[in-house]
Amino acid sequence: MRPVTTPPLGLMGPPGRPPLPPAQLRALVGDYRRRLTQCVPWNPAMKWQPQLNLQGATYGIRELFPTVGASLDPVHALAEGLYVDSPGGSFRYCVRVQPRGRPLLTWWGSQVGTVIFDAPVGIPALFQARPGRAPDDPERWNEHPWMSLTPGEYLTLRPGTRMARGHTIVAGLGLAHQLIEVTRRLQVKRVTLVELSQELVDWLMPVVTPLLRKPVDVVVGDAYEVIPQLRADVALVDIFPGYGNAQAQVAELAARSPGIKKFWGWGTSEMSGRRLRSR
Ligand SMILES: C[S@@+](CC[C@H](N)C(=O)[O-])C[C@H]1O[C@@H](n2cnc3c(N)ncnc32)[C@H](O)[C@@H]1O
Repeated sequence: MRPVTTPPLGLMGPPGRPPLPPAQLRALVGDYRRRLTQCVPWNPAMKWQPQLNLQGATYGIRELFPTVGASLDPVHALAEGLYVDSPGGSFRYCVRVQPRGRPLLTWWGSQVGTVIFDAPVGIPALFQARPGRAPDDPERWNEHPWMSLTPGEYLTLRPGTRMARGHTIVAGLGLAHQLIEVTRRLQVKRVTLVELSQELVDWLMPVVTPLLRKPVDVVVGDAYEVIPQLRADVALVDIFPGYGNAQAQVAELAARSPGIKKFWGWGTSEMSGRRLRSR
């Protein structure tokens, strides 16, 4: 699953080591204070930079369930009205509060950066349940969400979305961010969504469908088995829990998919500096 937050400032430092010494912590806090004075409006077309300093009020994002309130509470302990669960109980949609000045991770190729906001923002997120956990088990939900609408996700999904044209395959529903964006491109005629979870499709597609602007066929199944049987202009594959290590899997999938002209996987274009082709 996709880790997004950094620890509170006092605990930052190499993993497994003691908290930062006071002088380093003071320098870090000073740096974040400086960054808070330099915040600019969010723009989904903005370039990735190692330090993004954003005005929270400008971070307008799509909420699939707009009545769900934002919360800082643990995912398993959210009160009524602060989450929506899929009917089978395997997925939870909630909106995480991102506090003012608390860094969120971003990635670009081999580089890692942070984004901070000058005001709290709500970040919609999709968590999946760990198999076999009871509804009241504090360990029921995976620690990291499958997807959350952070600037890091926006910026790293964008290179794939920009490749979409003609008949495009989108593998991985998540919060449907990329699916929706792909259907809004003029160059796209139709889309095939490939998603592993029937439960996620049955729950979210009725919510997402009014937001789609092109016909979308849905295939429920494992993208590694389904995609090689399809024909399309482009396949955009985002079924990966971690950023930056999908190169080999996407290349292998592309090699087994003679009917697909171009491939992109989450992070592959930034890692390689080029787009992957099947042939
Ligand atoms: C990171 S989320 C996708 C986020 C999506 N790009 C968005 O914009 O919201 C990954 C999705 O891929 C699905 N998935 C995971 N493994 C898969 C597989 N082998 N085949 C198809 N879908 C898979 C998960 O159920 C999840 O919905």
